[in-house]
Amino acid sequence: MKHNILVIGGTGKTGSRVVERLNESGHHVRIGSRNSSPAFDWDDPSTYVPALKGMDRAYIVYYPDLAVPGAREAIEKLTEAALREGLEKVVLLSGKGEKEAEACEEIVANSGLNYTLVRASWFNQNFSEGAFLEFVLAGQVALPMPEAEIPFVDADDIADVVARVLVDDTYNGQTLTVTGPRKMTWGEVVETMAAGTGREIKYLPISLDEFKEGMKAAGLPDSYVWLFGYLFSEVLGNPHNQEVSADVQQVLGRKATDFREYVEKTVSTGVWNQSVQQTL
Ligand SMILES: NC(=O)c1ccc[n+]([C@@H]2O[C@H](COP(=O)([O-])OP(=O)(O)OC[C@H]3O[C@@H](n4cnc5c(N)ncnc54)[C@H](OP(=O)(O)O)[C@@H]3O)[C@@H](O)[C@H]2O)c1
Repeated sequence: MKHNILVIGGTGKTGSRVVERLNESGHHVRIGSRNSSPAFDWDDPSTYVPALKGMDRAYIVYYPDLAVPGAREAIEKLTEAALREGLEKVVLLSGKGEKEAEACEEIVANSGLNYTLVRASWFNQNFSEGAFLEFVLAGQVALPMPEAEIPFVDADDIADVVARVLVDDTYNGQTLTVTGPRKMTWGEVVETMAAGTGREIKYLPISLDEFKEGMKAAGLPDSYVWLFGYLFSEVLGNPHNQEVSADVQQVLGRKATDFREYVEKTVSTGVWNQSVQQTL
């Protein structure tokens, strides 16, 4: 059966990949973003109903993060509108180990819609499509918490899982945790990228305060500085949040992508060949 599926954040790291997979499977996909038509803007609830109209399922990617003030109210408004518009199921992308995000998960779980929750570890693609790309290009990855071990997950794996559970109702009511196959420190991740790219890239351990000061000095807004501080202390500061999950393997019947494979496929895109000024 072919569905009409709204993919919120459909131009982002996981959303764009979910769109590709759903299109390949012949579903009718509508992208929800500030630049789509109709436009969807989390900050403007009047855009929710036009984006949901005529859809029967939705992938919900909140931006910038379910932990920020205002996220709960937005998720509540969106799920209420989705129920009124007759959607039958939603899949929420959530953050593994984020207590604040769990409040949003509960809203979805109690919304009256069928749902699957997908809790993701930090993405590999932060180093090639996100906040850490500039560090890699500058050859110096200066980040706090050198001892933290993180089960980085590949956005392709998340998209494979999301594209499956969006249309497979056997996952209704479930919470899936998606991680990579092993935990890695920043130092190990940087070594792997240096080896795979042949570029000189070093890891520089700094304190959380130094990291936040650096962001402020680069002119990043206070809300962004707060969010990164929260994510580092809340998610990486708790060893329970760093466990490897078998859910990618269970849903897809194959191993989760290793960070080394991510580096190989990313090298071939050329994204790490550019040169750029470091701003963070
Ligand atoms: N990155 C990670 O490591 C990670 C890990 C776990 C969970 N997550 C979760 O993943 C989600 C996405 O994070 P991300 O940083 O990876 O971003 P992303 O999905 O790569 O990109 C952002 C997407 O959101 C859209 N967007 C931005 N502002 C918007 C707004 N005001 N209204 C509607 N759409 C908007 C963008 O499209 P337009 O610019 O066209 O509007 C784009 O499609 C967050 O909820 C985060 O908590 C991320």
